[in-house]
Amino acid sequence: MSEIAGHVTVLDHPLIQHKLTIMRNKETSIAGFRRLLREIAHLMCYEVTRDLELELIDIDTPMAPMKSPAIKGKKLVFASILRAGNGLLDGMLDLVPAARVAHIGMYRDHETLEPVEYYFKAPSSLEDRLIIVVDPMLATANSATAAIEKLKERGANNIRFLCLLAAPEGIKRFTEAHPDVPVYTASIDDHLNEKGYIVPGLGDAGDRMYGTR
Ligand code: PRP
Ligand code: URA
Repeated sequence: MSEIAGHVTVLDHPLIQHKLTIMRNKETSIAGFRRLLREIAHLMCYEVTRDLELELIDIDTPMAPMKSPAIKGKKLVFASILRAGNGLLDGMLDLVPAARVAHIGMYRDHETLEPVEYYFKAPSSLEDRLIIVVDPMLATANSATAAIEKLKERGANNIRFLCLLAAPEGIKRFTEAHPDVPVYTASIDDHLNEKGYIVPGLGDAGDRMYGTR
């Protein structure tokens, strides 16, 4: 892990980087892309939750009573920005099956690059829960910024943002809008092109996951 300016962490584990290279390759199949995103989500989930607080709870093993560590506090919330966020969400839920889930339906208008919201459903109490927002792509950051504004309006006060790829332009905008939300990513790419796509990137994450265009 390498931390940039105390706010952005690049998850540079070799397995994450290797799998990401295969995902970027335009020859990778839809099935392969989806499977790799889920596998990377396992590795990223491990990193993004590594500082969670533990408490000792009383249990009985078949041999003896003991105090054993368990994650402290309220259940985590994973918030997926649809559609592509669901690729990361599935892998996160493999590791934390009891997490609560928020779905935030948003797509980018191709002309304005502004997010259009079409769905929002979140657990009723968001205060004092760790909320990990997931979306593979942070391009202009318009979608992530708007999604996190919605969560904050609903009381969220402890948020992390997890993506696969980020553009420098998106990181700048995001950290200005939400300086209290740490960002975790596998790569900060070179730039955004004139259509708002990350370069070199991996293309349209939703289309590559679901075989749409
Ligand atoms: C993609 C991606 C992000 C957004 C990033 O979603 O999954 O949500 O674009 O771009 P931004 O940082 O410029 O807002 P898209 O709008 O293509 O919707 P989809 O997941 O339904 O394909
Ligand atoms: N959304 C994507 O899926 N890919 C990009 O490069 C930018 C936004």
